[in-house]
Amino acid sequence: MSTIRYLKNLIKDRNVASITPSSSFTVKKATRPINFDNDNIIVEFGPGTGVFSEYLLKKLSPNSRLIMIELNADFAKLLSQIQDERVSVYEESALAIDEILENEGVDQADYILSGIPFSFLNNDIKHQILNKSADYLKNDGKFLAYQTSSHLKKSLEKYFSSVSISYEWRNLPPMCIYEANK
Ligand SMILES: C[S@@+](CC[C@H](N)C(=O)[O-])C[C@H]1O[C@@H](n2cnc3c(N)ncnc32)[C@H](O)[C@@H]1O
Repeated sequence: MSTIRYLKNLIKDRNVASITPSSSFTVKKATRPINFDNDNIIVEFGPGTGVFSEYLLKKLSPNSRLIMIELNADFAKLLSQIQDERVSVYEESALAIDEILENEGVDQADYILSGIPFSFLNNDIKHQILNKSADYLKNDGKFLAYQTSSHLKKSLEKYFSSVSISYEWRNLPPMCIYEANK
């Protein structure tokens, strides 16, 4: 069901970018650095049909929060149907993270999980999003991203103290998974 919705939006909206939702292997690998024993504030950029969100909500503690920022109106509408007090959904660009966190009464997040296609963004917007992401993460916070190539590493290194990469081949297309530490 959600794959059909995903494909319909891919045809209409180039920002959807990837040809299928992320696989369960990608979801598990990209979220491995998250410490689920703690109460976490997680900001998700580009949740799409919610494959990561669904997994996170099963693992997150009752006092954790998941703030989703999704540019595509149809996906944002779908995600708004999630009945869970820990969730907030914004139909917005990741660029609005500052206004959104202010609205949520949150100073800084523990993790930012990002699926937005940075290679499709203009360079200035890309750097503004990465710069704000680093600002709005706690000192021990992590920026976790997945992209179809390793192009983002150099840009991340400008804003984060360390960046590592791994790959998940059981995804269509294969995914490059980033872990960036503030
Ligand atoms: C490659 S898809 C990933 C979808 C989902 N997270 C997954 O793994 O299946 C990229 C998503 O990012 C969204 N997106 C693209 N640019 C965005 C932006 N600037 N801010 C927020 N979301 C954005 C798209 O609408 C799409 O849902």
